Amino acid sequence: MANLKVDIKNTLDFLNENEINAYQDEIKKHFEALKNKTGKGSDFLGWMDLPEGISAELIADIKSTVESIKEKAEVFVVIGIGGSYLGARAVIEALGHHFYELKKNRGFPLVLFAGQNISEDYLANLLEILDEKDYAVSVISKSGTTTEPAIAFRLIREHMENKYGVEEARKRIIAITDKEKGALRTLADNEGYKTYVVPDDVGGRYSVLTPVGLLPIAMAGFDLDELLKGAREMKTAAESTDDIRKNPVALYAATRNTLYNKGKIIEILVNYQPELFYFTEWWKQLYGESEGKEGKGIFPAGVSFTTDLHSMGQYIQDGLRKIFETVVSVEKPNKKLEIPKDKENLDKLNYIAGKNIHEVNLMAEKGTTIAHVDGGVPNIKISIPQVNAESLGELIYFFELACAVSGYILGINPFDQPGVEEYKRNMFALLGKPGFEEETKHIRKRL
Ligand code: PA5
Repeated sequence: MANLKVDIKNTLDFLNENEINAYQDEIKKHFEALKNKTGKGSDFLGWMDLPEGISAELIADIKSTVESIKEKAEVFVVIGIGGSYLGARAVIEALGHHFYELKKNRGFPLVLFAGQNISEDYLANLLEILDEKDYAVSVISKSGTTTEPAIAFRLIREHMENKYGVEEARKRIIAITDKEKGALRTLADNEGYKTYVVPDDVGGRYSVLTPVGLLPIAMAGFDLDELLKGAREMKTAAESTDDIRKNPVALYAATRNTLYNKGKIIEILVNYQPELFYFTEWWKQLYGESEGKEGKGIFPAGVSFTTDLHSMGQYIQDGLRKIFETVVSVEKPNKKLEIPKDKENLDKLNYIAGKNIHEVNLMAEKGTTIAHVDGGVPNIKISIPQVNAESLGELIYFFELACAVSGYILGINPFDQPGVEEYKRNMFALLGKPGFEEETKHIRKRL
């Protein structure tokens, strides 16, 4: 049974529940379109079946790759960008020790990321670290032609071949890409790298439950079975009824679209647990790239409270009233820590001495929600019992499905991303890529 719950009571000052319920027929239609693959982008619905579709053989293969790599690598570099990076990072950061880089005896390689930027300093610093460490790498690109990971991989591959020799480097490189197309597939086949396939019908930002996310997550030592179990539970819950009042996915999709229609065009995903920072980044990509089209879409933003209450809090409380918040609320921490009593009480904290830190965090969450509602910011609460693999699996499937339904409500295709090609064309033209000669002439005049 899914544990995730959606609570919309703190939106009710801003809308009439009937406006949410009015989405019932439409949402039922969109669930059917997803199930029957009759809606926009229906070639990219493979993610819907991943929770139960990932085979035991694939999981066993990933686990055996992890076993062989961890024997010889203390660092595992994950090269990828966007959907080929954010899902893995979201789960690894959420489940990992906050200071895992400093932790001894991790038992698994330290996972580092590359190819998610084009920073010379970042890559040079990474190579400095790799000089000193034994490492392996996974290069992840569905298209196999994305510039950022291709640059990083070129550098790291050269580094690796110099360090270990070509033969050993081949055993330390794992490629995750299309089953037959793209430059990375050709290279992997030519070099004989171990490969995993990104299914044709799963787009990058929906791919965390494929080897794109599963290999790095397993390499960091986390439980794939629990993650997939959580996703399966959410899938079952979402399939059990279309009723907006009982189906958490439908309720979230209907509520955020009702708020959008009332001019709340910015959704801020709020966490009170720093380990969820990259989960928010994953969510931002999922919603931004899926919904921001044809001059429409809720702008997805993210904050980490209480940290950002001391930076963004003022704006949220008091700035332009076009915002709503969606809080990922965690009921229980994984560890226990009480606030100690202090004899002198100079900081006047003795009134909370003996309380767990999480209780204070929860009161901050409740107090902030009420303050923001009073300030004109509706609040959707999504609660999970704890930050663990199962809850993350639930959250992942929940947000993916709600994103698809929301995209259909908006009338756009939530599975393509035509807009991201624009910057690439300009960058290629400016760099003088063969085939872009005309664009180069025009764009250089604009510099
Ligand atoms: O969600 C998406 O499709 C994108 O964010 C891609 O994942 C990203 O651009 C990386 O693409 P690729 O995996 O082809 O290198």
